[in-house]
Amino acid sequence: MPRTPPGKPSALRTRLLEWYDAHRRDLPWRTAAGAEPDPYRVWLSEVMLQQTRVETVKPYFERWLTRFPDLRSLAEAPLDEVLKRWEGLGYYSRARNFHRAVREVAERFGGAVPGDPAEFRALPGVGRYTAGAVMSIAFGRAEPLVDGNVRRVFARWTDDPAPADAELWSLAEALVPGERPGDLNQAVMELGATVCVPRNPRCEACPVREFCAAYQEGTQNQRPAPKQAKPTPHEDTATAVVEHEGRLLLVRRPVDARLGGLWAFPAAVRKRGEGVAAAAERAVREGLGMEVRAGEEVGRVEHGFTHVRVTYHAVRCAPVAGEPRAIGYDAWAWATAEEMEGYALPVAQKKIAALATEPTLFR
Ligand code: ADE
Repeated sequence: MPRTPPGKPSALRTRLLEWYDAHRRDLPWRTAAGAEPDPYRVWLSEVMLQQTRVETVKPYFERWLTRFPDLRSLAEAPLDEVLKRWEGLGYYSRARNFHRAVREVAERFGGAVPGDPAEFRALPGVGRYTAGAVMSIAFGRAEPLVDGNVRRVFARWTDDPAPADAELWSLAEALVPGERPGDLNQAVMELGATVCVPRNPRCEACPVREFCAAYQEGTQNQRPAPKQAKPTPHEDTATAVVEHEGRLLLVRRPVDARLGGLWAFPAAVRKRGEGVAAAAERAVREGLGMEVRAGEEVGRVEHGFTHVRVTYHAVRCAPVAGEPRAIGYDAWAWATAEEMEGYALPVAQKKIAALATEPTLFR
């Protein structure tokens, strides 16, 4: 089975660039052909696009720029506000790292994104993909990149059911040198997003099908082979909805935790043999040094993270003794349903808030 695409990189490049010029999508982070790109916008778009669909990113990208139009405005903003603008996009470590990296650029590089691959790569959250994307798109440097779309395209060109990372990166490296490396990288990603799609690829519209080993073999639908999905572990988490004089108790999670820096209801993973009511009481005791009495479970919310599925059991609680203190959390606040709008809450927490504040027939 061939492991290299049956074509010269130069022939592939020419076809890809011609195709890209004719078919590229008009996306808010793309500059007009020939115009000078803004590295901050390119970087932001690439961070937002990780694990997230283009259609989801578009409105976030536009709204973000109305509040943080340039790197300095973001560097000067508090993390709370940054997370609020990211609310709903998920994978919040992207926003925390981007904010930290932008602050570092403001302090160490006078606010100018470094165009040197090694300097850029050393910033928080900048991996090989992001470095390749920003260096090539914003600075015209011949740096390779591989993402999920590129992986699929290359697996088909080489008719390889399970291409190794090292092979993918060396293919990307072989392809990128030449004119317009940023457009070339984007052309491969664009091809994967719009033509060389996971199921039933549109080979009839593909500019490079004659270089594609899987097309020649008729194996394109089996390339790459699906990865063996590992079973995801499951957690039951008791979530304490503590109510006092019409307000609910919110906490801010420590920055280095999952969903760090975001606001949430106090919560604890239920231990073996522990009921959700006891776990909710423990969450408030351990996290805030306050005693509450757990009442009814008002509902459940299911949420899938990358490595774990969580069932949140929302348990209504009444304060018994003590005032909240930030022990296991960074901060706490009492908020009405309206005031909650001002806090950055992950999607599952918003659903819990909706359950808790929804009028019920018997209350
Ligand atoms: N996916 C992530 N970044 C992209 C880009 N710049 N062009 C096309 N697809 C992408």
